[in-house]
Amino acid sequence: MEDVTDTVFRELLLSIASPGKLHLLFTEFTSVEGLCHPRGRQAVIHRLHVNDSEHDLLKQTGVKLIAQIWGVNPEKYFKAARFIAENYSFDGIDLNMGCPVDKIVKQGACSALIGQNALVNEIVEATREGSKLPVSIKTRTGIKNHQTEGWMAHLLTLNISAITLHARTQKMMSLKPAEWNQIALAVKLRNEINPEIKILGNGDIESYAHGLQRIEETDADGIMVGRGIFSNPWFFTDNDFMPETDEKLNLLEKHIHLYTQTWGTHRNFNILKRFFKIYVSGFEGAAALRADLMQCNNEEQAMGAIYNFRNLGGK
Ligand SMILES: Cc1cc2nc3c(=O)[nH]c(=O)nc-3n(C[C@H](O)[C@H](O)[C@H](O)COP(=O)(O)O)c2cc1C
Repeated sequence: MEDVTDTVFRELLLSIASPGKLHLLFTEFTSVEGLCHPRGRQAVIHRLHVNDSEHDLLKQTGVKLIAQIWGVNPEKYFKAARFIAENYSFDGIDLNMGCPVDKIVKQGACSALIGQNALVNEIVEATREGSKLPVSIKTRTGIKNHQTEGWMAHLLTLNISAITLHARTQKMMSLKPAEWNQIALAVKLRNEINPEIKILGNGDIESYAHGLQRIEETDADGIMVGRGIFSNPWFFTDNDFMPETDEKLNLLEKHIHLYTQTWGTHRNFNILKRFFKIYVSGFEGAAALRADLMQCNNEEQAMGAIYNFRNLGGK
C-alpha cells in the first residue's frame, strides 16, 4: 500500500507475526514509467527498497516479498521487470489493475485496464519476458458494475500465478462494503477454467479469524489485508493476543527509529503520522499523547513525547 507498506512497516509486521500466519508481502505500487526514466526513477525507487534487516527476516520466516508495479505501456513493463530482476531479489511481480484513483485511471492505468483484454495480454507477456519471476495481478471486479465473470474468464487464460481480487468495482472505491459473493464466483470460475491460478480475496477483512471465515465461505486460497492492518498491526499474531500499552509504545518507538534510520530526510516525517493512531489508542491518555505526537517533526521530538508520557504521565 502506498506510503504504508515500505520496508520499515513490513519489517515491523514480520517481527511480530506468529509463524505460519503471514505468507506474502507486497511493496507499494511503483510506476513503470518512473522506473524507466533516469530522473523519474529517483522519485519512485524508494518504493522498491528493502532493508538488509527486512531481507534477513524474510529469509528466516519464509515470507515472500512481491514487487508491485503499474502503468500502461507494455514496453515499459518489460524494462521495469528486467530492471527489477537484475537489481533486487523479489519473489514475484504483481501488476496493479485495481487502483481507482482518478489521476491514474485517466492515464488508462490500474483499474482502467479492467476489460482491456488485448492490452492486458501484452502487459503480462512483456512482464514475463522481462524477468523469470512469477507474475500475478491485483484487480477489482469491474468498472461501474461487477464484470467478474467476463473479466476473470479472461485473466484465467493468462500465464500468471495468482489473482488478488478486491471485491469491489472501480466505482465503489473503498466506500461500499466489499461483496464477497464475487470472490466465491471467481473461485468457481478458476476451478472450471484454470485450477493452477491461486485466488486471493480482498476487502474489509478485520481480523485473522475473519479472514479464515471468508476463506471457508469462498474457498479462496488466501486473503489480502488492506486497511485492517491499521486498526491492528498484531493482525498476524496469535488470535487472542492483546498488546499492553508498553508493547504498543515499544513498537511505535521501533517504527519511528527505523523509519528515520532508513529514510533520513528523504521521506517526509509526516507520512509517519498516519501510523500513530494504530499504536496510540485503547489506553488512558492515548488521545493526549497522539495530539503531542502530531506536533512532532522528527524522531527526537517524537521520542521525547513518548518518554514524557511513560515517565511523567504526559506532563
Ligand atoms: C493508503 C492506501 C494505500 C493503498 N495502496 C495500494 C497499493 O499501492 N497497491 C494496491 O494494490 N492496493 C493499494 N491499496 C488498496 C488495498 O490494497 C486494498 O485493496 C483496499 O484497501 C481494500 O482492502 P481493505 O478493505 O482490506 O482495505 C491501498 C489502500 C490504502 C487505504
